[in-house]
Amino acid sequence: MKFVKFASICAAVLLAAGTAQGFDPEAGDGNKGKDDVAKCKACHDGTKTAKLNPGSKTKKQWSRFFEEDQKKLVAKHADWATFGLSNDQLQNIHRFLVERALDSDKPQTCD
Ligand code: HEC
Repeated sequence: MKFVKFASICAAVLLAAGTAQGFDPEAGDGNKGKDDVAKCKACHDGTKTAKLNPGSKTKKQWSRFFEEDQKKLVAKHADWATFGLSNDQLQNIHRFLVERALDSDKPQTCD
């Protein structure tokens, strides 16, 4: 009986974590993303690494970096796991980049 209770608690926790972590490309807030992206800019400052310029890529190109649990971004960053970005922050950063992409209404080509 004790085991059943434990197992169901585990299942509930896993389920909650699963739904909380799903990356939704339509979710997120681009204005918050503008602040969240500061974590990226710590490296992408134009000296250590090239600047993170939203207007340097199209919406589709940016979205590709975030597909499949940010597979393409993870591949570029060996230390990705240490950045400590939450799913919300990633959604915000994605919106920020897409809303200012090359083919958006307001492309941001310099900062
Ligand atoms: C610890 C430093 C560091 C942090 C933090 C960091 N990056 Fe990078 N990033 C790099 C390095 C180094 C490269 C490799 C540059 C290359 O491939 O020429 C890179 C590459 C990239 C590329 C590929 C470059 C391109 O134009 O194809 C993208 C996109 C990118 N980073 C986005 C991000 C985003 C978004 C964040 C924040 C969520 C971030 N990075 C955080 C260091 C960092």
